[in-house]
Amino acid sequence: MMKMLRFMLLLCLSVAPSTKAKPCSIPEPPKNSTVVTITNDSCTTLESKPPCNTTQHITELHAPHSKIETLKPGSFTCLKKLKTLYLDNSLITTIQPETFSNLTNLEILDLGHNSITQIEENTFFDLKSLIDLKLNNNGLRKIADGAFDELKLANLELDYNKLEEIPLFKKPSHIISLDISYNPVKKIDAETLGKHYELESLHMKKTDIRELRNGIFINNTKLQILDLQNTPIDSLPGADLESLRKLFIKGATELWEIPIISFKSLIMASLNYPFHCCLIRAEYDSYGEVATQPTHPNTGPTIKPCVKKHCNYNYRRPGTTATTDPFHPLGVTKHQ
Ligand SMILES: *[C@@H]1O[C@H](CO)[C@@H](O)[C@H](O)[C@H]1NC(C)=O
Ligand SMILES: *[C@@H]1O[C@H](CO)[C@@H](O)[C@H](O)[C@H]1NC(C)=O
Ligand SMILES: *[C@@H]1O[C@H](CO)[C@@H](O)[C@H](O)[C@H]1NC(C)=O
Ligand SMILES: *[C@@H]1O[C@H](CO)[C@@H](O)[C@H](O)[C@H]1NC(C)=O
Ligand SMILES: *[C@@H]1O[C@H](CO)[C@@H](O)[C@H](O)[C@H]1NC(C)=O
Repeated sequence: MMKMLRFMLLLCLSVAPSTKAKPCSIPEPPKNSTVVTITNDSCTTLESKPPCNTTQHITELHAPHSKIETLKPGSFTCLKKLKTLYLDNSLITTIQPETFSNLTNLEILDLGHNSITQIEENTFFDLKSLIDLKLNNNGLRKIADGAFDELKLANLELDYNKLEEIPLFKKPSHIISLDISYNPVKKIDAETLGKHYELESLHMKKTDIRELRNGIFINNTKLQILDLQNTPIDSLPGADLESLRKLFIKGATELWEIPIISFKSLIMASLNYPFHCCLIRAEYDSYGEVATQPTHPNTGPTIKPCVKKHCNYNYRRPGTTATTDPFHPLGVTKHQ
């Protein structure tokens, strides 16, 4: 009986922490430092209350692998000089409006590996200096239109979420790198990409995107890296990809059309089907990466014409007179 009671008491104690909000005050940084790391792993939320004299000079705050569940107004009130904020690998589900309203100097925000499902229009509204935002590995389903419009984002990581649409920007963005890999995105069009005039790197690996219409990249004339690995994409547009340097198409088993002639700057392709190798007219090497053009005599790859034995020019689209599966890695014995 005593044992039983003790067991129940233990059970209550061990369950108790998650049911009650435990705010932790942001501590004073060590002497001569402006960097704070929160190691107390019983905090469920953060607090930063005036007087601010001990914390107002903090420039970097780290609280990764915490038990923080909620971010709310007052979490960062004093931290007006904050530039870097790491809140990754925690239990964050909710970011209340105005949480970030005093962080106008923040440049890097890592919220990756949390459980955030939704971003409201005003969630990040005040982060006017934000350049780098990581929201990867959350359960994101919805991002309000224009949610990132007031930011200066150059890098936006949205990979490993549940997004069916890519976020809509209403104003021209500064985004250089956009990652929406591992999301059930089905459709992407010129309207969603049209504001990213600076875009150089677009990662769409393992999305459900089937189609990239001609004209989709009309305003993305700086695009250099395009990752379409493991997508059901069936063709690539020829227009507006003159700057493309690197193309990733491993596992794109429906891709029948690669207008290689339009890709004037292509220097590297990552692929795993001899069929694609033939389309690109380059050699399949041990890494499944092929050089398509010489770059620099000493450092860059050199032209390697597609190895004939890998090429079967009789491939036909399914339903016609297909005799061979073009996506079977024929003749490739050394690698996967
Ligand atoms: C850790 O945070 C909890 C909850 O706010 C608090 O009760 C506890 O005193 C803190 N522990 C330390 C060592 O600061
Ligand atoms: C802290 O900075 C002051 C002034 O810059 C310097 O004199 C002092 O030695 C530093 N203290 C430590 C512990 O680094
Ligand atoms: C911060 O302000 C409080 C209240 O005004 C004061 O008691 C404390 O000594 C100050 N601390 C420092 C480090 O200036
Ligand atoms: C922002 O700072 C001002 C004063 O500096 C304060 O009155 C306001 O409550 C702060 N807002 C938030 C959401 O912390
Ligand atoms: C592309 O840019 C032009 C010029 O800024 C703009 O008028 C047009 O709406 C943009 N296209 C798309 C599809 O957003």
